[in-house]
Amino acid sequence: MSQAQEVINYHETTKHHFHRYARSAGYMDWANQPNPFRIYEGAEVFPLPLSGGQLADIAYHRLYSSADILPQPLNISSLGSFLGLCLGLSAWKAAGGSRWSLRINPSSGNLHPTEGYLILPSLGELPSGIYHYNVFHHALEKRIGLPENAWPLLKTHFQGAGFLVVLSSIFWRESWKYGERAYRYCNLDVGHALAALAYAARVHGWRLTAITGAGDDQIAAMLGLDRTPFEALEEEVPDLMAWVAVENCSVDISQTLPDDWTRIFSSLKMDGHPNRLSPSTVDWSIIYRTEAVARKPPTPAMVYHPTDRPVFFAPPSTCQAVDVIRRRRSATAFDPRKNATREAFLSLLERTLARPGAPPFDAALMGPAVDLLLFVHRVADVDPGLYFLIRSGEDLAPFKSIFNSSFLWRPAHPGLPLWQLSQGEVTLEALEVSCHQEIAGHSAFALAMLAPLKQMVADRPYLYRHLHWECGMIGQVLYLEAEAQGMRGTGIGCFFDDAVTELLGVKDEALNSLYHFTIGHALEDQRIQTLPAYHHLVR
Ligand SMILES: Cc1cc2nc3c(=O)[nH]c(=O)nc-3n(C[C@H](O)[C@H](O)[C@H](O)COP(=O)(O)O)c2cc1C
Repeated sequence: MSQAQEVINYHETTKHHFHRYARSAGYMDWANQPNPFRIYEGAEVFPLPLSGGQLADIAYHRLYSSADILPQPLNISSLGSFLGLCLGLSAWKAAGGSRWSLRINPSSGNLHPTEGYLILPSLGELPSGIYHYNVFHHALEKRIGLPENAWPLLKTHFQGAGFLVVLSSIFWRESWKYGERAYRYCNLDVGHALAALAYAARVHGWRLTAITGAGDDQIAAMLGLDRTPFEALEEEVPDLMAWVAVENCSVDISQTLPDDWTRIFSSLKMDGHPNRLSPSTVDWSIIYRTEAVARKPPTPAMVYHPTDRPVFFAPPSTCQAVDVIRRRRSATAFDPRKNATREAFLSLLERTLARPGAPPFDAALMGPAVDLLLFVHRVADVDPGLYFLIRSGEDLAPFKSIFNSSFLWRPAHPGLPLWQLSQGEVTLEALEVSCHQEIAGHSAFALAMLAPLKQMVADRPYLYRHLHWECGMIGQVLYLEAEAQGMRGTGIGCFFDDAVTELLGVKDEALNSLYHFTIGHALEDQRIQTLPAYHHLVR
């Protein structure tokens, strides 16, 4: 089997069908529930300040405006607020004798397989080095100290001051609950985390750019993930690296890594021993086989510059960026009596379109390849029905030729690439394709993210991950804009894959559904108590 076929085989094998869900344990093995917090025991620890107060006045809509936000100086305090606003805790919840934490970045099943690392210059008492972000203690754990001559190399290569950030995944955290489908969820979570990083950079006046030329083995060698004594099946696999520029933010930086960095970094001494996450693990072997064939080699950078487009529905100007980022939550139920306004609906969709300088797609991961199929239920002045938002380009002809010939293709708004396909209630359809989850039908609208997966992975199997990352990024955009609009969203990883494309009359070879999402007015569960994010820390 070719590598591309292996990736496609993974996707096929892990589809949910009406008559059969993808393979998983089928029960919750509580005794082996993985610890959601990675800790490097014995590593030197640098607690981070908790504030972020200096950003309180930055209005949410400025995240998307072309006007600069005054860059924060890079120091331990701004690093603390940066990490706290992308990968940190957002709250603790308590009910019925249990307590669990939530984070700024969402995660399928709240299992949090994504870990974060920083490669930093020396900042006061913090020596230049490679650090793991310890989410529970809001602290940096020093894994590798960098020699004095290393940092000037990075600064010259990236044309200014800044730092590198790396995301990695621990598949076992997700496969413990979701079995074979977990690799998809880990990659969706990476997309959410990447978007969270891009927003946190923007709010500090910084800019995040993905190093799209880097190979996974290069990243693992630089970080030492390839020589860390992880417990079997608790390994961390690198996802991606990004540069956060804290000055010269408008300069398009190199999106590749020099060859000799791997050699320089991989010879450095490492500290800290990874904590064990579970007493015992289960080998969902298809995940590890797929990871091996979807690993990215070093390549030329995948450079992407979106073209500018007019804004029709500006983001809300009445709320603060930091508040929206911190209060993002998933809705667990929606009020089916409440509509979204037409303006909020169109603003939500417009935010998902890539624009120069607008996070998170200014991370320049790759050109947009994901389009949105919308199930409109309750939006004032918008007919219920199916709609299609073309994010990947402007041309509807390729879709028209493969979708059901009965579709209307009626422009929904002049200027937006949004088309009405059908008229009439689609609540049952939305609910049914999303594993019968009520949140997909009781909301104002739900959506499926579609991409030509099989064509895209044919030459570059690693794009399987990029496509899921793009979906996660779209999800994060929707989560924030929903909050800003006084509504709430929820990511939906459980869906019946083929039922979606069948609804469109499209062949599986042409398009695949990769992620679903739903947005509306949330109903709160009053039995659940909320506690502040870092109440457990004494600082
Ligand atoms: C990739 C992904 C898939 C998800 N799938 C579902 C789903 O199918 N059903 C659901 O109710 N919630 C789903 N969620 C929401 C998570 O359960 C939620 O993010 C998690 O419990 C953390 O809560 P928070 O988002 O409020 O921080 C998903 C979230 C993500 C990121």
